[in-house]
Amino acid sequence: MVGVDQVLEKLSTVIDPDLKKDIVSMGMIKDLELDQGNLKFTLELTTPACPFNVEIEEDVRKAVGEIEEIKNFDMNVTAKVMEGRSLDADTALSTVKNIIGVASGKGGVGKSTVSLNLALALSQTGAKVGLLDADIYGPSIPLMLGMTDANMEVKDNKLQPADSNGLKVVSFGFFAEQEDQAAIYRGPIISGILKQFLVDTNWTDLDYLIVDLPPGTGDIPLTLAQTIPITGILVVTTPQDVASNVAVKAMGMFNKLNVPIIGIVENMSHFTCQNCNEIHHIFGQGGAKKISEKFNIPFVGEIPLNSGIMSGSDLGKPIMITDPNSPSSEAFRTAAKNVAAQCSIIAAKLQEEMASEAANAGAQSTEAEPSKPPDAGQSLGSAGAGTAASTSSPSN
Ligand SMILES: Nc1ncnc2c1ncn2[C@@H]1O[C@H](COP(=O)(O)OP(=O)(O)OP(=O)(O)O)[C@@H](O)[C@H]1O
Ligand SMILES: [Mg+2]
Repeated sequence: MVGVDQVLEKLSTVIDPDLKKDIVSMGMIKDLELDQGNLKFTLELTTPACPFNVEIEEDVRKAVGEIEEIKNFDMNVTAKVMEGRSLDADTALSTVKNIIGVASGKGGVGKSTVSLNLALALSQTGAKVGLLDADIYGPSIPLMLGMTDANMEVKDNKLQPADSNGLKVVSFGFFAEQEDQAAIYRGPIISGILKQFLVDTNWTDLDYLIVDLPPGTGDIPLTLAQTIPITGILVVTTPQDVASNVAVKAMGMFNKLNVPIIGIVENMSHFTCQNCNEIHHIFGQGGAKKISEKFNIPFVGEIPLNSGIMSGSDLGKPIMITDPNSPSSEAFRTAAKNVAAQCSIIAAKLQEEMASEAANAGAQSTEAEPSKPPDAGQSLGSAGAGTAASTSSPSN
């Protein structure tokens, strides 16, 4: 009769295309039960927004189908977003698994548009998503969400984010009476406001917190990069060289601060004429792709120009909600999946680094102690990180 080891061996032939690792060693197989050829387990994917979820699920079914002695197979598919930030127990915002700063070199390239629609696209996959409008000088998210009358509540000394379309939202624009004064605020005050928005907000459990930054490398992007561990920065640019060149300068700052670049997205990429269906590259072509190749940064997507994006923004009606089947919404969905995949890759690297640090620390402490034989728990290690396997009958 087939045993758990053989099942895991077969399952470990399924490779996650993003993480380039097998699903067993990544701990994606949970609660495995095998009883007289009846197999049951949970496949826990790394994010509901993974571009390869369907493919992985199909590969798993195929692999199990190739084990002759399996009579019945029952698989529960779930997703648990990986932590893309080093989260110690005392880390600020420890309930937020990934923080993604959306930055650019030049202003007006569409950071706020991309932040909002990416947040909505991620949320529509089932992920828990927050949106922090960190453009304290010129907050635009309230207008784009039609929330200009929203107010921030404070409960138990914590700011309570407003709810909109399934997102948790915080913006300086919700403090109507103070918004006009933002222009006169300078460095330390601005940094203080952002820190409060990050740390003194009741964000609750979030898979992704998207932070819409002002353009350039001023106090706000600097504060975000230095205050808390973040997963990384998504760079937005338009195709023309002048925008791309400034984007490179902004990336330089984050690089110096050791903040990973999640990827680059090209907004206002092209325009498709509705009459002749011809594609026009109004702002030039290929700027973001050039940067991605030159600096080896993932290219996560291109968003076409669409007058509906602009008019919807002004009316508080984001395109992901009003026209989810438009090519622009499809482009945001693709970009969101690629961003989620890059976050999983960063998370997997972090896990590896932490495991090797722990192993080094262990090796140093055993140098001082006489060596011990591996215990039963360690011998299960080959089943993979976090794999919980149980059999309710003899497995051979
Ligand atoms: N793909 C697009 N198609 C059409 N209009 C767009 C697109 N992306 C953004 N816009 C419009 O361009 C303008 C600038 O966009 P947005 O406010 O998102 O840029 P930003 O980079 O956040 O600007 P700022 O640097 O001032 O924060 C807005 O009017 C927005 O509606
Ligand atoms: Mg903006």
